[in-house]
Amino acid sequence: MQVNFWFGHQGYEYVDLGRFWQIFLLIGLLLWVILVLRALYPALTEKVLGTSMFSPNSRKHLLLLLAIATICIGLLYGAGLMWGQHTHISVMNYWRWWIVHLWVEGVFEVFATTLLSVLFIHMGLLRVRTAITMILFATIIFLIGGVLGTFHHLYFSGTPTSVIAIGATFSALEVVPLVVIGFEVYNHSKIEQQTEWEKNYHWPFMFFGAVMFWNLVGAGIFGFMVNPPIALYYMQGMNLTANHAHTSLFGVYGMLAIGLILYCMRGLTDLENWNNKLLKISFWTLNIGLGMMAFLSLLPQGILQTIASVNHSYAYARSAEFIHSPIMEGLVWMRVPGDVVFSVGVFSFAAFVYQAFRKSAAKSKALRKVDV
Ligand code: HEM
Ligand SMILES: [Fe+2]
Repeated sequence: MQVNFWFGHQGYEYVDLGRFWQIFLLIGLLLWVILVLRALYPALTEKVLGTSMFSPNSRKHLLLLLAIATICIGLLYGAGLMWGQHTHISVMNYWRWWIVHLWVEGVFEVFATTLLSVLFIHMGLLRVRTAITMILFATIIFLIGGVLGTFHHLYFSGTPTSVIAIGATFSALEVVPLVVIGFEVYNHSKIEQQTEWEKNYHWPFMFFGAVMFWNLVGAGIFGFMVNPPIALYYMQGMNLTANHAHTSLFGVYGMLAIGLILYCMRGLTDLENWNNKLLKISFWTLNIGLGMMAFLSLLPQGILQTIASVNHSYAYARSAEFIHSPIMEGLVWMRVPGDVVFSVGVFSFAAFVYQAFRKSAAKSKALRKVDV
């Protein structure tokens, strides 16, 4: 058991990995923090900031917020080390939610909002004032709401209903900042169409748009569905949770990662070599595939489980008898179409990245030959 705790599987959802690997991951995250801070440092200490689209001071504030969010991402994973092998499960679960809720739903949200704001300002789509207000709003919500919001998870740890209600109320505010930024960006982007900007930023922007969309649907609507205490009473840990978790995790952070990859690739590869057709296929299949997974399989399964829980009992809704009933099994199989569509997106994105880098490498090699 000792060896398993350190090198195997701790058995706790989302913090499954053995303690040794957990420490390893923390070191990796800290190295990432150093790398990001090293890149931000010159901009933070710069005195005059050239011809920026917005005032130097505001830009510094924004970058400072980004630096703080980065440090938080690195350090907060440390909460995963707060329990030992023999810690009581309710204490362990408290800290586990620091990782799953505070880290993922809180700090990541602040980081995502800040980073997207910085990029949107660079793209000329967002006013600095709105960005800073929203990021401060996000940070305040995280501090007063995110911490209290953790209680929407502590349902079976002897937490009183009133405390769960506080958790539900505050966590529901989490999605607001990114939604406001989304609306502002959407309004500006309508004016910006057909310009040089379109050519340069179209695809990163589309993926950032997907982040906004899934933030509203996956985290917002599907999150709200499982959020009220009365809802949690009947359906905690069932398929409506899986529905919310998948659409918010991939929908928000998966799409954000792809958008950022594309943003960076603009500098690393030649835009001329981008196969936009592959990218278009990838964008639509990833989004439609995720939507199909949610609407054809997880959502109906979750709704049926909830009905079973309300009409019979919570135990019945999770029993093998109900889970393996023909209709539930049929709905599990309904995962296949969405998964197939989604994997087309994965492969076409991989092919796009490969092609873009290979063509750019070939071009620079040819140029070097000409130079010689
Ligand atoms: C992008 C932001 C979010 C992400 C990545 C996210 C992710 C997750 C994940 C992975 C779980 C499953 C945890 C588990 O059961 O072990 C979860 C559960 C939950 N989330 Fe979120 N979430 C987000 C935003 C929100 C928001 C805004 C709300 C409130 C409206 C919310 C309410 C909940 C609730 C109540 C649960 C517990 C459900 C249960 O235990 O059955 N989430 N979330
Ligand atoms: Fe949460």
